[in-house]
Amino acid sequence: MNLKTSYLGLELESPIVVGSSGLTLSLNNIKKFAGYGAGAIVLKSLFEEQIMFETKNSLESYDTYQHPEALDYLKSIARDQSIMNYLDLIQEAKKAVSVPIIASINCVSDNKWTEFAGDLENAGADALELNIFITDFQKLNSSQIEDLYIKIIEDVKGNTGLPIAIKVSYFFTNLPRVLLKLGYTGVNGLVLFNRYYSPDIDIENLKVTSGSYFSSPDEVIVPLRWIGMIADSVSCDISATTGVHTAVEAIKLFMVGATTVQICSTLYKNGIDYLKNIVQDLANWMKDHNYNSIDQIRGILKSKSTEEQKLFSRTQYMRHYSKQE
Ligand SMILES: Cc1cc2nc3c(=O)[nH]c(=O)nc-3n(C[C@H](O)[C@H](O)[C@H](O)COP(=O)(O)O)c2cc1C
Repeated sequence: MNLKTSYLGLELESPIVVGSSGLTLSLNNIKKFAGYGAGAIVLKSLFEEQIMFETKNSLESYDTYQHPEALDYLKSIARDQSIMNYLDLIQEAKKAVSVPIIASINCVSDNKWTEFAGDLENAGADALELNIFITDFQKLNSSQIEDLYIKIIEDVKGNTGLPIAIKVSYFFTNLPRVLLKLGYTGVNGLVLFNRYYSPDIDIENLKVTSGSYFSSPDEVIVPLRWIGMIADSVSCDISATTGVHTAVEAIKLFMVGATTVQICSTLYKNGIDYLKNIVQDLANWMKDHNYNSIDQIRGILKSKSTEEQKLFSRTQYMRHYSKQE
């Protein structure tokens, strides 16, 4: 079965990408993922603060790092996962496997860390995924926040010729418009959507607790909805992340226009070799339904951005809600 897919200008053997997490920090796992049929592997993100700290840049502009506990934390991650180790991991992975290796940086500003993108390219990374989440809600209004996303992209592009994908959340004032705007910056891909740590509340002990680190398959409806809505209007690739636990969610996302899907929680829950099942189930489903390539199913159910389609959606919406007692 031909699962070949082009993503960020790279040729992938399959559209199932291993998403960024602690699972992609070891060479051993990377070799296993390559053997299990991963199309590409996104390495665990480095934090921009960590890059600034280790490259001896000032951390003064980071409010959070004025706190001694935060600085201690930064020192401890620099010890466990230094940026030099990260560059070594890229080099070793490139020698060991032929699957594309995508470096990842979690960033919040256009500070000098952007120069580090060139080091990732020199180490041999095939592409760079930028996980951007600007939360400066008090200082910046929504259009300033959106402008900062674009400034970060421009600065990184000025420092590397690597293909770039932008991983974002769905917390924007006018999400489809922002996604289209990001798509026009010349990035090669949008990764939709990041899933953030969410707090929960323990009502017996009156405590703030941590929500689940891992997603459930139901959560796929969020990328499904928005990717379906914008896929017809963006020219860059779209990689879907959040809620892909089996081949079923992956197939749905391809149908609404995703180029690739990324998986993470399912590998934590079911073990990393579960990747093999997802790739095999996808191939079996395609064979059973007489499809010879992913291109034949990609986008067959995406929304068309025509006036007629908008009217159709509105009519469906009214019909659906008028049925409720
Ligand atoms: C333990 C853990 C660590 C993660 N670390 C990162 C990270 O470093 N960078 C990043 O962009 N996403 C990170 N993610 C988010 C995942 O890449 C993914 O986008 C998210 O979990 C949603 O996909 P899923 O439903 O397949 O889990 C992490 C997720 C988990 C569960």
